[in-house]
Amino acid sequence: MPSDEYLQGIYYIQGRDFVDAGIVSSEIKKSLKDKGIPESIIRRVAVITFEAEVNMISYSEQGTIQLFIEPDAITIQADDIGQGIEDIELAQQEGYSTADDSIRELGFGAGMGLANIKKYSDIFEITSNPGDGAHLKSVVKL
Ligand SMILES: Nc1ncnc2c1ncn2[C@@H]1O[C@H](COP(=O)(O)OP(=O)(O)OP(=O)(O)O)[C@@H](O)[C@H]1O
Ligand SMILES: [Mg+2]
Repeated sequence: MPSDEYLQGIYYIQGRDFVDAGIVSSEIKKSLKDKGIPESIIRRVAVITFEAEVNMISYSEQGTIQLFIEPDAITIQADDIGQGIEDIELAQQEGYSTADDSIRELGFGAGMGLANIKKYSDIFEITSNPGDGAHLKSVVKL
């Protein structure tokens, strides 16, 4: 994780709170705009944070997204407490999803979130202890 001097914000996410889905990624988008970050970078960070946020709402009890802005990179660190991920390789495959009907009814559950996070990241790391939660780090270079 980058040093705290680059920490722009910590955003809290409540599991199962679909009403608020997208609020954190919108706030992050706005703060990057205010800082004059290029549009093309903001679009990538917005996809990454939105997918991480919806995954936390869908599959965890609660979590945080920390945003770091360094002179040459933006880092998104997403940590949650919850069921975690049994098979990380499988979870990253396009089309793989354990979403139940309540999630699918809302239009999520295509199994594309982690694949898209990976696609838009210059560096992508995901770790998990099943039963504890999931940890995701994404770096977008400036
Ligand atoms: N934070 C998390 N905690 C526990 N499991 C997760 C978490 N994030 C993802 N997963 C697991 O990985 C699977 C794949 O996630 P991914 O975001 O790629 O797809 P999805 O959420 O199922 O569908 P989509 O993102 O396209 O709406 C999920 O169905 C879930 O089983
Ligand atoms: Mg998802």
